[in-house]
Amino acid sequence: MKYRTHTCGELNMHHAGQRVKLSGWVQRIRDLGAVLFVDLRDRYGITQLAFYEENKNLLEQARKLGREFVIQAEGTVVERESKNKKLPTGDIEVKVEKLKVLNTSKIPPFTIEDQTDGGEEIRAVYRYLDIRRNPLKNNLIFRSRVTQAVRNYLADQGFIDIETPYLIKSTPEGARDFVVPSRLHPGQFYALPQSPQTFKQLLMVAGMDKYMQIVKCFRDEDLRADRQPEFTQIDCEMSFVEQEDVLRTFEGLLKHLLKEFHDIETGNFPRMTYEEALRRYGTDKPDIRFGMELGEITDLVKQKDFKVFSATEYTGGIAVPEASGYSRKQIDELVKWVQRPQVGAKGMVWVKYNEDGSFKSSVDKFFDKDDFILWAERLHAVPGDLMLILSGDKETTQKQLGVLRMEMGERLNLRKPYEFAPLWIVDFPLLEWDEETQRYHAMHHPFTSPKPEDIPLLDSAPEKVRANAYDLVLNGNEIGGGSIRIYDRTLQQKMFKLLGFTDEEAERQFGFLMKAFEYGAPPHGGIALGLDRLVALLAGKESIREFIAFPKNNAGRDVMIDAPDYLSEAQLKELHLKLEV
Ligand code: AMO
Repeated sequence: MKYRTHTCGELNMHHAGQRVKLSGWVQRIRDLGAVLFVDLRDRYGITQLAFYEENKNLLEQARKLGREFVIQAEGTVVERESKNKKLPTGDIEVKVEKLKVLNTSKIPPFTIEDQTDGGEEIRAVYRYLDIRRNPLKNNLIFRSRVTQAVRNYLADQGFIDIETPYLIKSTPEGARDFVVPSRLHPGQFYALPQSPQTFKQLLMVAGMDKYMQIVKCFRDEDLRADRQPEFTQIDCEMSFVEQEDVLRTFEGLLKHLLKEFHDIETGNFPRMTYEEALRRYGTDKPDIRFGMELGEITDLVKQKDFKVFSATEYTGGIAVPEASGYSRKQIDELVKWVQRPQVGAKGMVWVKYNEDGSFKSSVDKFFDKDDFILWAERLHAVPGDLMLILSGDKETTQKQLGVLRMEMGERLNLRKPYEFAPLWIVDFPLLEWDEETQRYHAMHHPFTSPKPEDIPLLDSAPEKVRANAYDLVLNGNEIGGGSIRIYDRTLQQKMFKLLGFTDEEAERQFGFLMKAFEYGAPPHGGIALGLDRLVALLAGKESIREFIAFPKNNAGRDVMIDAPDYLSEAQLKELHLKLEV
């Protein structure tokens, strides 16, 4: 052992008297004159090194150390005089007899301790220093443990791990492609996969039966806390399965993880149709850990003079518990909040259901107690609640209420990080109409099969067709999505047509897949879970960046390596590219 006999996290009283060698980073130096202590850190923990006056040379040598120097120390494990109960190594210290500096360090730009003085930006530039700190380090270790557990579970279920290529052509998942110019084929580009969707389907045609891959996917879309341009999927596909088989297998996986990492036993996950989720929660990824469900009052307000309500398709609201005491200022702030462009409501009506059973509202001129009692019933409001009402076209208003519900859940601390409420959303519509392009889009992706009983509607009322598609939702986050696939050439061709592809376009982009369907494609289906999101949620967090070693910032940049970057003239030329900027 040239560098170490132990790590900095493992020595305790059992090792007292042993001669040991440790290597690591200098976290802290405390010079008390007659003795100097160094906290030596590595991935495993911190061990106190002690340099005493009796060895003057060595003490002087230690005085020259600086923060983050990489050193090697040899000495004897001894019991400490004042013990530190917070550290696993806190009962002992190593009385150093030999010290070697393996490398020096500049003064780090921020303190490398659990509590740091470094802002987010500087820590992103020096990500490798930030990873030395416990919070990030522990997140990455946790991620590795989750990944390992996922692999073990799926391997036990008979899945085999197969790699698929990154240099491919477009696989549509609803985002833009990142593309890679080809040097050997002027004017041609590879696309990076938005997912391995078509390849995993081809592996089913190839007879591999159960495929899994923990795989990078690339999507050029706007960033959010739960989105990165490159992210990782636990991607799976199975042959000879129907929806029920896929749901059962992956419900099993999540149950296993919740047991393994939180010792939580979960019953069977609830299932909710897409329509029901929107109606009750205003979103297709509901957080069902708290109530505050949406209630519709459209029919109750139609006959009155209040134009805002009577002229619209939908009026509904939520009852915020124990909020009838909100001040005018607090309510005004909420009204402003829903009017922000991110939510987009025009205004909001409020009704206080006072503790004494009386009501006070912003629409007292138009409605009275009898009305409010009926509203309260629909919204499941009780005395002490504050009813918040929005009105407009149905889908938009439900979604706005859904956003408001989540915000109130957040503000009232109803979203407990270590409470887990998974559920399946099923029966998604196959298609959604896009006003901008005046076309149907596949809600999941174009390879998703319609429910067999809805196939006749494909020609007459495509928007009514439901898909054999499902999402796995955890605590208000979509952690997975999948579907049973089309495996018949004619039906796949018909889908492409509905999505506005000409036969030629479909053939050029997806001819390879349709051709494969002519050579004995088995019925198949699958799912992909977002690993980054899954890991963050299991750790009680929602922002995925802290669970990725080297993430991109909000503008999609890697500020550490400074990417993206310009190419040299020579490189551009070699790639047959001409820039217009
Ligand atoms: P989908 O597009 O639903 O399905 O993606 C699956 C899961 O991947 C995660 N995810 C993301 N995570 C971080 N950053 C992103 N930009 C991002 N985009 C998606 C989500 C999501 O639920 N091929 C299909 C799967 C299938 O049909 O089998 C697919 O990719 O958690």
